[in-house]
Amino acid sequence: MLIEIPNVFSKQEVSHLREQLDARRWIDGNQTSGAMATTRKRNQQLDKDDPVAIRIGELIMERLLAHPLFVSAALPLQFYPPLFNRYQGGETFGYHIDNAIRSTNEGMVRTDLSATLFLSEPESYQGGELVIQDTYGQQSIKLAAGSLVLYPSTSLHQVTPVTSGERTAAFMWLQSMVRDEGQRRLLFQLDQSIQSLTAQTTAEQELFNLTGIYHNLLRRWSEL
Ligand code: NI
Repeated sequence: MLIEIPNVFSKQEVSHLREQLDARRWIDGNQTSGAMATTRKRNQQLDKDDPVAIRIGELIMERLLAHPLFVSAALPLQFYPPLFNRYQGGETFGYHIDNAIRSTNEGMVRTDLSATLFLSEPESYQGGELVIQDTYGQQSIKLAAGSLVLYPSTSLHQVTPVTSGERTAAFMWLQSMVRDEGQRRLLFQLDQSIQSLTAQTTAEQELFNLTGIYHNLLRRWSEL
């Protein structure tokens, strides 16, 4: 399941974030990759200890944890905090699957879900599509600045070469309370239907029952 979350940040907020990020020192992206990735990856990143990157990363996590669609789709337990990358002059990241486990200062995170927050307007660069091999086929993603895509970390994915302009993005991983993607998808679909019914019907007892079923499934399937 691949979910787009539009307007996590407004255009004005994105340009303010970009001013701060662009002024930092960008380094070779291979300093943060696993062994498999290094031969396929050509891009730039901010150091994970860069104080501006850490602060903006915290703002992104805070914003996402307050976003009902994100919470419903991800059922987040633990983030691997956002990192920032930039592609220009033909830079690319060929097909790969992300590492399963990442360590943070707070301990280990199993990467159940990956997310990319786009911070460049799509018309400002050529190429740079995030291509994801989903269970339903191949999807090519290039979102407006301030919008995010969330997808299972089990997916094979690539970033195609950026042949003109530059593409800046934040990317992150998270461990979900519900490890199994199929169970997570069912919970998401049930929750979205409940939200939609809540907005339009007076069938209170049925909605009450469905909400109870949602919570009983979540109780059965979550691990904390
Ligand atoms: Ni990746």
